[in-house]
Amino acid sequence: MDKILVHGGHRLSGSVKISGSKNSALPILAATLLTRESCTISRVPDLSDIHYMLTILSELGCEVERASGMVQIKAEKIKTQAPYEIVRKMRASVCILGPLLGREHEATVSLPGGCVIGDRPIDLHLQGFEALGAAVRVSGGNVKILAPNLRGAMVSMRSKFGSTVLGTGNVMMAAVLADGTTVIDGAAEEPEVVDLANFLIAMGAKIEGAGTRKITIEGVKELHGAEHEVIPDRIEAGTFLVAGAISGTEVTVSRVTPAHLTAVTGPLSEAGFDIKPNGNQITIRPGTKRSALKLDTVPYPGFPTDMQAQMCALLATTEGISVVTENVFPQRFMHIAELKRMGASIDLQGSTAVIRGVSQLSGAPVMASDLRASAALVLAGLQADGVTEVNRVYHIDRGYESIDEKLNELGARIERVKT
Ligand code: UD1
Repeated sequence: MDKILVHGGHRLSGSVKISGSKNSALPILAATLLTRESCTISRVPDLSDIHYMLTILSELGCEVERASGMVQIKAEKIKTQAPYEIVRKMRASVCILGPLLGREHEATVSLPGGCVIGDRPIDLHLQGFEALGAAVRVSGGNVKILAPNLRGAMVSMRSKFGSTVLGTGNVMMAAVLADGTTVIDGAAEEPEVVDLANFLIAMGAKIEGAGTRKITIEGVKELHGAEHEVIPDRIEAGTFLVAGAISGTEVTVSRVTPAHLTAVTGPLSEAGFDIKPNGNQITIRPGTKRSALKLDTVPYPGFPTDMQAQMCALLATTEGISVVTENVFPQRFMHIAELKRMGASIDLQGSTAVIRGVSQLSGAPVMASDLRASAALVLAGLQADGVTEVNRVYHIDRGYESIDEKLNELGARIERVKT
């Protein structure tokens, strides 16, 4: 199992190219199951989660070809049952359910287990399929869904934590081939949902309202092959902006969509950093004074839960008292204990972290527990005195393309050690 050694205190500077979005690419790759014709997806990041999705698609019978960020998929003849051994490795595998139902009217997939950021149910996905006329049965750890007559309906995606991103995508993918009109109420507004809708529209689907709370889908008889470029990864971009912030230097993220990042750049400005968007780039520079923040994670267009851990690392080194409340995944605080091992002063009160900034963290062996928590530990290591040893880095490889190499190109000193 690889580990990463971060040698703290090196100045970062320069520009980093942001990869395609993992959270867009995963459902978009699954959506290629909706047609027998060939689809070409570009700017697909090289990540282990993407690798799992491509393996699932191959196992289902798709022809998959991959070359430097470009993936070609032809799902001419497919099976409807996904193998447990691969599905269990990635929760986002559930997004094959919608396309399998849409095209083949049946799907069997293992239920995703719990994960370290808490109980992650798929009840809203399943209720959505039921609203479209599907019969859902859970047995032997699998969910089996049959939908001989998939028909348009009113579907609600509202949960007490906001909407569901993959649930909205899943229902949209089933509804594009259903009979009649589906209206998704309380739809997730994330840019990744819009990106998926744009790909489906390029395949011949009729979808209106993606990016708003109400999406209307008029079912069509069949979809055709299409080409699509995945949007930039706003969470990777946000993570590199925080890398610049925490090391107190000027860093530019390029090939990004600044409009997708305002919920991250807003708080960074409020914390005293100078943020300059310029075309498809954003530059962050230290300002004259840094301030503590009050942050609440909420669904898009609010501050993203996927940036909470990284901001906690930054605020742990920002003078004053910051208060961070996690509203989307209330248990998503596994990084706090590890940051405390590095000298952070954080008091966890339910789903709120009260952070008293310290001037310097100190390097320590720490354990990555999930994707964004691992990124937060690497960021903390950039600021810390000495060496931070981040163990279980396979978490970080799920969602960041060559994060160590990209940070080293900016001037960090990070080693990857094979153990
Ligand atoms: C996606 C992202 C993940 C991000 C999350 C929230 C992908 C691959 N992953 O995950 O990085 O952190 O959005 O922005 O795109 N919920 C239910 N019932 C459901 C589904 C969800 O109650 O059926 C709850 C969840 O427990 C959570 C909230 O709704 O509290 C949001 O989860 P959801 O938007 O579904 O997250 P994902 O789509 O799985």
